[in-house]
Amino acid sequence: MKRSEINRAYREAKACFEKNNWQLPPEPRWDISDFGLGEFDKTGLVLVNLAEEAEYCEKLMYCRNNQVTPLHTHAKKKEDIICRQGRLAMELWAGHPEKTPKGKSFRLKRNGKEFEVHSGDVAVLEAGERVTLTPGIYHAFWGASEECVIGEVSTANDDVNDNYFVNSEIGRYPGIEEDECPLVRLVSEEPYIGHLRPATPAKGGDGFAPL
Ligand SMILES: [Fe+2]
Repeated sequence: MKRSEINRAYREAKACFEKNNWQLPPEPRWDISDFGLGEFDKTGLVLVNLAEEAEYCEKLMYCRNNQVTPLHTHAKKKEDIICRQGRLAMELWAGHPEKTPKGKSFRLKRNGKEFEVHSGDVAVLEAGERVTLTPGIYHAFWGASEECVIGEVSTANDDVNDNYFVNSEIGRYPGIEEDECPLVRLVSEEPYIGHLRPATPAKGGDGFAPL
């Protein structure tokens, strides 16, 4: 991913947070990714890590219209994905999309109440709405409005070892091509700290494709 793209995404997300009165913490921890696919406008996400504790985590995120965070699941993390501003589309699957019949029904919580979903369905969340994703549910999401501010509240977060993408080409943290000066340093550029430890060998199981 080019540094100039990271800088642009940072400026756009920062402006959107400010415009909508989302105050960031002092020294916000930015995480900007094209998931290694090199097409940030199509597949990309801006995140700010707000709280990172052993038991829980909170993030604030930003994406643009149709900018996708691709299908993935988590083996350990349970998370609420919340539409904070704009509209958020989310594709949901009971299990791995290549091994789960399209239309297979399952239940998950939307706004705290259980509802039935059919695998492959796209739910569109209005601002204020949330879905609760348990481990093993595959999900992708993208903005369904020009800009979208998204919240994530979850159990312990481990971005290095607990993201299982359907597309095996994907990497959670991008390599960076330095084509201009950085406006911000990303989480992925910090020296070793806490949970950002090197990936351990994949344990496999349940059809998860490790990073
Ligand atoms: Fe997720």
